Amino acid sequence: MMFSAASPGDVPSGKGASGHSYVSCDHDQSPSACAVHAPSLQSSRSELSPCYLSSDQKRILIVDDDDWIRDIMERILRRYHYQVFTAPSAEVAWEMLRFASFDLIISDMMMSGMNGLELTAHVSQAYPHIPIVLLTALRDRELLRTAIRCGASDFLAKPFSIEDVPLIVERNLERHALLRFDRVRRDYTLKFNTVKVLTAAVEAKEPYTAEHSRRVTHLAVNLGQAMGLPEEELRHLEIAAQVHDVGKIGIPDFILHKPGPLTEEEWAEIRKHPEKGAEIVGHVEELAYVAEVVRHHHERVDGSGYPSGLQGDNIPLLSRVIAVADAFEVMTSDRVYRRRFSREEACCRLQSGAGTQFDRAIVDTFLARHLDTLLT
Ligand SMILES: [Fe+2]
Repeated sequence: MMFSAASPGDVPSGKGASGHSYVSCDHDQSPSACAVHAPSLQSSRSELSPCYLSSDQKRILIVDDDDWIRDIMERILRRYHYQVFTAPSAEVAWEMLRFASFDLIISDMMMSGMNGLELTAHVSQAYPHIPIVLLTALRDRELLRTAIRCGASDFLAKPFSIEDVPLIVERNLERHALLRFDRVRRDYTLKFNTVKVLTAAVEAKEPYTAEHSRRVTHLAVNLGQAMGLPEEELRHLEIAAQVHDVGKIGIPDFILHKPGPLTEEEWAEIRKHPEKGAEIVGHVEELAYVAEVVRHHHERVDGSGYPSGLQGDNIPLLSRVIAVADAFEVMTSDRVYRRRFSREEACCRLQSGAGTQFDRAIVDTFLARHLDTLLT
């Protein structure tokens, strides 16, 4: 098989018996067993430089101590519009992983220094989301089993067909995308079910609080959308609003249901609910990130709130959003000790609390632009 000097981006072609093009040079074999010899490389090419970048291209890292294999793989994959990086050793690849992200790694199995198996084991531990395809000429089943146990996603057997390279890359990218999607869905379902359990517990103890939390969630999420919060933040906001008063589970019934005004001691008990709530939510690993939002939903921007007396931007943004939605919902609902305020009255009270109790910009968004939408 003869390769002519290739221009950048060309894939050298040579046909095997099947009509496919083959590459068969490997350190697993003795040098004399190499079917072809490497053409000279462009000396200006940096091992660490990406080729022809664009942000939506998948990033592939090729790890091989054979210059020619790296070069040919790079040319093949570049032709299929992948963003290609190369490393001449597993040690260099490991270092690159500290500073850059990759969508897939293709690594030679046998390399001096850290070998492909060791690299696979390290990567699957530290970066389990990156699939690793191992290049090997070995057919040792036990070794392949060991590679799978180490975390290898797939194998590319040498000699390999040039046409096989993009296929195996695509197959592994696709498979990992599906696995990732499945993980996200499972994660969301788990969070959702956990929130359902918590709200059911609140409902059993304090039906009013459960109903209040549903209305606050509706207002808070609509307010967050009006503020232009990103999708991820909106999901956190939704969960935090649903569980923001879960700490009331820990408040004695006679205080929660007292028809008359509360004593100072009873108020002190009520004021513990954000911290009790953060503690409950914080125990659920998947919800730990909303614990701080729950803890601070009764802070005031002037620093006179509880439990920590945080001021202004030191209060988590989602806590400030919930504070506005919470106050509006409370003011516009009947209580055993008072009738509800009209929406207009509640809006006036939000306005007068802007800059002291509430974040002014959030109140402005609530009042000025989206009130009708927020309430629908
Ligand atoms: Fe509360």
